[in-house]
Amino acid sequence: MSNLGKFITLEGVDGAGKTTHIEFIKNYLSDLNVNYVMTREPGGTALGEKLRDILLHDEMSPETETMLMFAARNEHINKVIRPNLMKGAVVISDRFTDATYAYQAGGKGVKDEKIDILKKWVQESLKPDLTFLFDLSVEVSIERLNKTRKLDKFEREDKSFHKNIRKKYLTLAKASSERFCILNSEESIKKIQNQIKLKLDEVVV
Ligand code: TMP
Repeated sequence: MSNLGKFITLEGVDGAGKTTHIEFIKNYLSDLNVNYVMTREPGGTALGEKLRDILLHDEMSPETETMLMFAARNEHINKVIRPNLMKGAVVISDRFTDATYAYQAGGKGVKDEKIDILKKWVQESLKPDLTFLFDLSVEVSIERLNKTRKLDKFEREDKSFHKNIRKKYLTLAKASSERFCILNSEESIKKIQNQIKLKLDEVVV
């Protein structure tokens, strides 16, 4: 499938400030009168949100977790992502398949090859046009998380888990540098937003 609209994904370690920047992206695209849909994973559909609740709170094997992530993703792609891209909208997903490679493979040891199979099955030719990676050192990420809110299952994991996730994200970014835009979350919000703006102007406007 060739995208009529643009598919943008947001990725990063927990605590990297995605929420703040999502608000900025929404306001920026609204000001430009761009037709966009902001969605998230796991989630984005009624069933996906139920699966999110299970995924974020119930213990399960990493393989089960991977398959449930893709079950939610299948619904999300077929009910939200593809239909909106076909209408020419910009679809922005707060996390997508890179998160499965980072968390379930990088963090929990699921083999990349198993994820490759599910990805091919569920996504077919769909892939993001642009991925913002909010990158942050694990020390700062954990410090921020401890200050903010009640932590979910993933956020409560130890430092080495978060280190492995960051490492995997950076490896993915290097392998697909044509679609990744790495943002240093330790920079000022203003500086990060300027970089986001430049990239959105390039890809969307
Ligand atoms: P969020 O807090 O950014 O909304 O993401 C929810 C959590 O789910 C986050 O800790 C990352 C995790 N996650 C995975 O482990 N695998 C995935 O494929 C996705 C999409 C999210």
